[in-house]
Amino acid sequence: MAVLPLLIALLSIIFFASSPLAKAAQYSVLSYGAMPDGKTDSTKAFAAAWSQACASTQPATISVPKGSFALGQVRFQGPCKNNAILVRIDGTLLAPSDYGVLGRAQNWLIFEHVNGVTISGGTLDGQGAGLWSCKNSGKDCPSGATSLEFSNSNNIAITGLASLNSQMFHIVINACQDVKVQGVRVSAAGDSPNTDGIHVQSSTGVTILNSRIGTGDDCVSIGPGTSNLWIENVACGPGHGISIGSLGKDSQEAGVQNVTVKTTTFTGTENGVRIKTWGRPSSGFARNILFQHNLR
Ligand SMILES: *[C@@H]1O[C@H](CO)[C@@H](O)[C@H](O)[C@H]1NC(C)=O
Repeated sequence: MAVLPLLIALLSIIFFASSPLAKAAQYSVLSYGAMPDGKTDSTKAFAAAWSQACASTQPATISVPKGSFALGQVRFQGPCKNNAILVRIDGTLLAPSDYGVLGRAQNWLIFEHVNGVTISGGTLDGQGAGLWSCKNSGKDCPSGATSLEFSNSNNIAITGLASLNSQMFHIVINACQDVKVQGVRVSAAGDSPNTDGIHVQSSTGVTILNSRIGTGDDCVSIGPGTSNLWIENVACGPGHGISIGSLGKDSQEAGVQNVTVKTTTFTGTENGVRIKTWGRPSSGFARNILFQHNLR
């Protein structure tokens, strides 16, 4: 009788589909029309892959294969129906080189209200050189877009990502909890204006490990409301160094506390680590700051 084997097969399908070991649902951006040719606008395809992955009730993987993908602004909005979305990038995401397109938008790629998102691998090319030369010429220029931001999100990991030549900040962590940045490379010209590597504010439990950051501004900048920040094994330079502040801009402002900067190397930077404040009354503060075993 073939009934028993059939029953076993059926039961095991039900078991594996419902167990946490079930394979993540797969969403390749190519299935939504993205083109790895560096020219075709793939914005809609990335947005469509995200909305499917976000609506999945199982863990989901969005894959971006090798090649270059031209992208305008993409908002990766949550909350999602699962809390395990992996964005696996093997290729390069290219921002518009014309700063007229995104220069007045605050962001290029932004994740908001998500929980349990990992970005692994890949290169973000902000193509910021046009905006930098506008700014360096003293003309009136737009302020530029941050390449990658996580806002109001928890349990985030960014690993093995390279971020190059952002218009403004490379990576911003705003109002987040538990974020691990690891093995990241951030690079922009030493004279590129406002190209901070990683900016953290209003966030708790952010860890930045084993990364290499060289830009025209701060390698890491730390804004009000940051607590439990751990920075270890970062190679910083060129750039302004690691900066807490400027603090005390507003009279009512959250403080910065429990920041550790360990075994970080500064090469060709203006400063090592510094704390900057405005000279005016404010509830802001910086306390429990530890700088240890750093090299210059
Ligand atoms: C300080 O932050 C670290 C992580 O950077 C955390 O492990 C530790 O518990 C925090 N200490 C306090 C007193 O909150």
